[in-house]
Amino acid sequence: MSASLPATPSGQPVKVWDGFIRLFHWSMVAIVALNLFILEEGDVAHRWLGYVAAGGVLARLVWGFVGSRYARFSDWFPTPARLRAHLSALRRGEPETHLGHNPLAGLMILTLLSLLLALALSGWLMGTDAYFGVEWVEELHEGLANGLQGLVVLHVLAAVLMGRKLRQPLIQAMVTGYKKG
Ligand code: HEM
Ligand code: HEM
Repeated sequence: MSASLPATPSGQPVKVWDGFIRLFHWSMVAIVALNLFILEEGDVAHRWLGYVAAGGVLARLVWGFVGSRYARFSDWFPTPARLRAHLSALRRGEPETHLGHNPLAGLMILTLLSLLLALALSGWLMGTDAYFGVEWVEELHEGLANGLQGLVVLHVLAAVLMGRKLRQPLIQAMVTGYKKG
């Protein structure tokens, strides 16, 4: 059982994702897509958008303490106990109903946020006198970008599959902010 079930009749729309979360999410999607596939590697727009993404992540971390109910780390931080409960419910074929992020999603989210920060840091390093042209830093940046790409595929797959299993349009909810209660 989740502690996050609302006192709302089943099926009624419940506001889950606030405006900041939705704006943050789709901005990250746009910036990462631009930096991976469209902009010239390492050009000015690439670098500034990367810093904007890092700024967004820092703001998201603050929002995790002061934001709305389901945005808060206290709602979804993947503690070992929460992960164990979630995994054993999945194994029993009775997934828990979390209105916010489930603990596995939480783990993925923390990883994605860390990768975005690490990309900005390694990108910044590449431009410093000390690390300009240093191969391992360039390889690190490239490796982080590849890792992010792979995890995003997994993240989207998980959202589609869990959405089907729970009959909850998770992707639509990240657009409208509402889930079915
Ligand atoms: C969302 C964040 C970012 C993503 C997804 C991203 C992704 C990438 C990718 C895929 C490449 C090509 C790597 C290769 O195949 O060699 C690249 C190159 C580069 N990136 Fe980023 N990047 C991000 C942020 C940044 C930031 C913040 C900076 C600097 C302030 C930066 C500076 C560079 C530079 C200078 C290169 C060219 C490296 C070279 O010459 O090999 N990136 N980035
Ligand atoms: C660069 C690509 C992406 C990144 C970096 C990313 C990152 C994130 C982050 C950080 C969250 C947590 C939101 C929060 O609480 O702040 C999240 C949630 C979510 N993302 Fe993404 N995302 C990406 C792409 C996508 C795409 C393409 C889709 C779907 C088409 C998607 C669907 C979702 C959904 C449905 C959730 C909510 C999951 C839940 O209900 O627990 N994401 N994503």
